[in-house]
Amino acid sequence: MNVLVIGRGGREHALAWKLAQSPRAGTLFCAPGNAGTARVGVNVPIEPNEFAKLIAFARKNAVGLTVVGPEDPLAGGIVDAFQASGLRIFGPSRSAARIESSKVFAKQLMRHADVPTAEFRVFDYPAAARAYVETREYPVVVKADGLAAGKGVLVCRNSEDAIRAIDRIMVREEFGGAAGRNVVVEKRLEGPEVSLFALVAGRTILPLPPSQDHKPAFDGDQGPNTGGMGAYCPAPIATPELLAQVEQSILVPTVHAMKRKRTPFRGLLYAGLMLTDQGPRVLEFNCRFGDPETQPLMMRWRGDLLDVLEAVVDDRLDEIAEAGLEWDPRPAVCVILASAGYPGAYAKGKTISGLDEAARIPDVQVFHSGTRIEGNRIVTDGGRVLGVTALGETIADARRRAYQAVECISFPGMHYRRDIAARAELSVTPPAPAAPPT
Ligand code: AMP
Ligand code: GLY
Repeated sequence: MNVLVIGRGGREHALAWKLAQSPRAGTLFCAPGNAGTARVGVNVPIEPNEFAKLIAFARKNAVGLTVVGPEDPLAGGIVDAFQASGLRIFGPSRSAARIESSKVFAKQLMRHADVPTAEFRVFDYPAAARAYVETREYPVVVKADGLAAGKGVLVCRNSEDAIRAIDRIMVREEFGGAAGRNVVVEKRLEGPEVSLFALVAGRTILPLPPSQDHKPAFDGDQGPNTGGMGAYCPAPIATPELLAQVEQSILVPTVHAMKRKRTPFRGLLYAGLMLTDQGPRVLEFNCRFGDPETQPLMMRWRGDLLDVLEAVVDDRLDEIAEAGLEWDPRPAVCVILASAGYPGAYAKGKTISGLDEAARIPDVQVFHSGTRIEGNRIVTDGGRVLGVTALGETIADARRRAYQAVECISFPGMHYRRDIAARAELSVTPPAPAAPPT
């Protein structure tokens, strides 16, 4: 079966890499892909928002399954468009994708379904929002309703900050006119964050191993938020008891509420959680795989990804859930190598060296994010450039290998965090010493 992956990031390279390993996979296409996906399949020069061109391509090339990486085409209705053309595609419908594309939709759904999340209010006029934030205890978080590439979330220390945030979102429309029509004002929560993905189809919810992302740009969680500077999987802080609680108090009521609203969710549901003193709380839902969390997740995935994604599309996920998924017991760590300036402005076209040397280290995969082929060179083509991902016997071992591979690679202006997964190492209790013989 020919397969089409839509997107151009590290997540898409990791998905394409795994899908191509399926014995049932024919040609793997990636639109538009990057220099990494060109090694596992065939890149197609069509953008993710060019639905008509993608549909024509899928028809002409007998694509049996399309897998969508990023949120934008999902929010724009790519799944509805493919299905209307009789094509099979993995992802939620446009109306179900609102769980990510509208924070107001997601928060109201959580309120009605009694899903634990930060207390909040929604405003559609800046004056009312300004009056409200004058009366709040701080810190609060002000969020643009719509998609803003992770930038529309502003943590405010006082009311001046909050008024400025409302202004930026609603008046100056810095995150786009549609995204800023409404704001959510909510309480700031504290605690470690965990990304929990679940495959969802019909009544079946199949959670995948938890992972942890590192959003701030610099070591020690300093600097501006990014799309994610590294991740590891599994996250030991998310114990089996905690995951059972999250499934019962968050995933099940959310999926049921989506069904009741007649916008059933089918695809991958990503719960961004904060583990507070009062228990797990939802920060956000995403309607797609996370980036970079998918890179370590795919390194550990042992089964046939194509079979599983197809089962979601065909509403047969219950069969897969019954058999269970198989994971490499070893943890995986992914370190993002970024361009100078990211998440702000950055230059493109810098030559990358050392990729082959890094790839020779056992149990290491270098997933490409912003790269492209230029003649016989691979050059930078985005803010996040590469996701250097390694398996290891322990998190410390995976971390050591990932950084060993990072040492091989260079491009002008390359920057990365040196503390990815360092906290996880600390949170793992060493095994108790063996009892002395009696
Ligand atoms: P969101 O797009 O809503 O997930 O927000 C992006 C990031 O902002 C989250 O991953 C958190 O790091 C942070 N964040 C969002 N909401 C809150 C909150 N209520 N309290 C503290 N941090 C938050
Ligand atoms: N790593 C965060 C995201 O994918 O949204």
